[in-house]
Amino acid sequence: MNFNYNKVFNFKETLKNDDLKFFVKNGYVVYRDLYNKSEFDKAKQFLLNKYSILKKKFNSKKNKIDSWKLASEISENFENSGISINMYKSGKLLNILKKYLGPDICVFNKKCSYIVDPSFKNYSTKLSPHVDGWVGNSVDMLQVNTFVTKADKLNSMIFYPGSHLFGLLPVKNRELDKKIKLNIKPIALDKIKEGDVLIFHPLILHGTKISNKNKKFRFSIGDRFKSFEKKLTSQESSLGYKVLCAGPINHIKRIIGNDYLQPFRVLGGKAGISAINKDIYDYLD
Ligand SMILES: [Fe+2]
Repeated sequence: MNFNYNKVFNFKETLKNDDLKFFVKNGYVVYRDLYNKSEFDKAKQFLLNKYSILKKKFNSKKNKIDSWKLASEISENFENSGISINMYKSGKLLNILKKYLGPDICVFNKKCSYIVDPSFKNYSTKLSPHVDGWVGNSVDMLQVNTFVTKADKLNSMIFYPGSHLFGLLPVKNRELDKKIKLNIKPIALDKIKEGDVLIFHPLILHGTKISNKNKKFRFSIGDRFKSFEKKLTSQESSLGYKVLCAGPINHIKRIIGNDYLQPFRVLGGKAGISAINKDIYDYLD
């Protein structure tokens, strides 16, 4: 393979848009040091603490462990804690996302916790190669995974670089149609540090790196981001979302107050919007 598939971009390296060139060509890209460290540390502590509590609870039960149920309980707690939104708004993540999605960004509800834990028998949220577009992620959105712990080529993720450029690959019973020969060697991400952020395209073929040799724990959080000005798919509508930031054009529409641009709603008063949205509409006095 003649490219450095483990290239990691720090914020300074993104100023010439080499990250976007890498993304367009390969369908994924890894960033380092995007979050404010103390916000990331709070999130990490919250997630690993919650996991250790639930691990004890589920381990003590005689019945079969439902890995995805445990993981979704962690995700829901994290989502409702406010810590996740604080982390996403900290540092440079939104600067990067605006380059892909524009200024009006939302994060969908129902994030995922992906956990590989060799010390927890029968527990894993591994996924074999698949395309997120098969289950309703739209081509206008981005999948964004935050590595809460380190990861290497034995427990990280695999990608088929460039497979997103073929369009929506044919699926048969939740797997790539066996008749399709892509002729692309999958790569496994390596030397991933905690706090690294992975962005990938909804049409790329990817999955969990599944290896019997792995002895290390890996925890990551998966989110979907999109411009809330774009049409939603049925999956996206049913998930619901939270707005993270709004651009200047959206500010003006909201001051006018209705989609019919009815004139003079604010004539003689303050050109503003409800104070409850102050954290989103921060270009207003
Ligand atoms: Fe996926």
